Amino acid sequence: MEIINKIMWLGGISVEDLMEEYGSPLYVYEDEIIRSQYRQLYESFSGITIQIHYAMKANPNPAILKVLLEEGAWIDAVSPMEAQLALDVGFPPEHILFTGNNIPLREIEYCLERKVSINIESLSLLEQYGQAYPGENVSIRINPGIGSGHHAHCITGGPKSKFGIYHDQLEQIHQILHKYNLVLTGIHSHIGTGILDPKPMLEALEMTVASASQFSNLQFIDIGGGFGIPYHPTQSPLKVEDLGQQISNSFQQFCEKYGKKLDLKIEPGRFLVGSSGTMLATVNNIKKTPEYHFIGIDSGFNHLLRPALYGAYHRICNASRMEGDEVPVIVAGNICETGDVFNHTPEGLVAQPLSSVQLGDRIAIMDVGAYGMAMSSQYNLRPRPAEVLVKQGRAHLIRKRETYDDLMRGFVMSNPE
Ligand SMILES: Cc1ncc(COP(=O)(O)O)c(C=O)c1O
Repeated sequence: MEIINKIMWLGGISVEDLMEEYGSPLYVYEDEIIRSQYRQLYESFSGITIQIHYAMKANPNPAILKVLLEEGAWIDAVSPMEAQLALDVGFPPEHILFTGNNIPLREIEYCLERKVSINIESLSLLEQYGQAYPGENVSIRINPGIGSGHHAHCITGGPKSKFGIYHDQLEQIHQILHKYNLVLTGIHSHIGTGILDPKPMLEALEMTVASASQFSNLQFIDIGGGFGIPYHPTQSPLKVEDLGQQISNSFQQFCEKYGKKLDLKIEPGRFLVGSSGTMLATVNNIKKTPEYHFIGIDSGFNHLLRPALYGAYHRICNASRMEGDEVPVIVAGNICETGDVFNHTPEGLVAQPLSSVQLGDRIAIMDVGAYGMAMSSQYNLRPRPAEVLVKQGRAHLIRKRETYDDLMRGFVMSNPE
């Protein structure tokens, strides 16, 4: 992001030009940021074979998938349709690892028919898999007993989490493997998302390799995603170089003890695409109550749910006036819900300073590349915005703005008899 003549520019194009061309509201992603995040992470590891599986749930836009395919990423998919999209974009099936949660066997079948790798996360599904595919290879997701994340809803390890096979059930895993002559080739864990402290990630690695040491035919260990990005100015970025080096060292030591060089997989989503995305909207309304100064925009939690869902902070700017006297404001959406404001924090609503906002100004909500558009909805029958990828100073439309016809698709309009 740059500021030229007091206006925000993204990837070398002014926000005014972007909105003039593509309308409002609009998601804008910067290609260069995705690539540099990928390279920074990849280069932080050394002395081990690392595979970076992009967690495409963070942002499944095919154009973004293609950027990461070009960079050399593999894929973490959580539904058969995510896996299908990754195949359609051109990822080789063996580079896609499907880890579903509470899924039926038919989703595993769907992936295996397409040669996509699968990862099983419950004893009952492992049993069904053994019955259907005796003698085959399999990998499993364990719950290493610890979790971490930016919100309770985002912690996916530990005794309160629904994910994975709890690490104290290794004996049952052995029994099922033995019963169906299955070969365990991989152990996976993922403890949560939005983690800025390396400590829980290193602890999870220790717990995961401790479980892995109980199985002798492994080819890989997968420690999931969770690599956080700073959203708030007071947050420090994850020291990725240090973390990558520490993970590499611990993993190398484990491989030496294990007696075989295994591959290490990670599954970042947020880290790769989060900071590449900005949501732009237009000011439709300005009003005051005894408590708040509201700025009303033409978007809402239907387009960016994270603040309302998690109390997640996103920096907000007046992209049309990046300099000037600042006033603390609450930025409110156009959805008929009181909670439809973008200033939620874990401590309640906190106004953010914006410089002298006027009707028609463009508002930018920062760092929305991950779990932004991916979690959007058509609530209140409001269409989703368009998405644009800016690359080498040129903007490319990568998803069209929805229309009334898009909203109606799927409804059966004839009345039941
Ligand atoms: C299994 C798995 N892997 C990877 C991720 C990606 O997490 P993040 O975006 O925090 O890197 C998730 C997201 O929760 C996940 O469930």
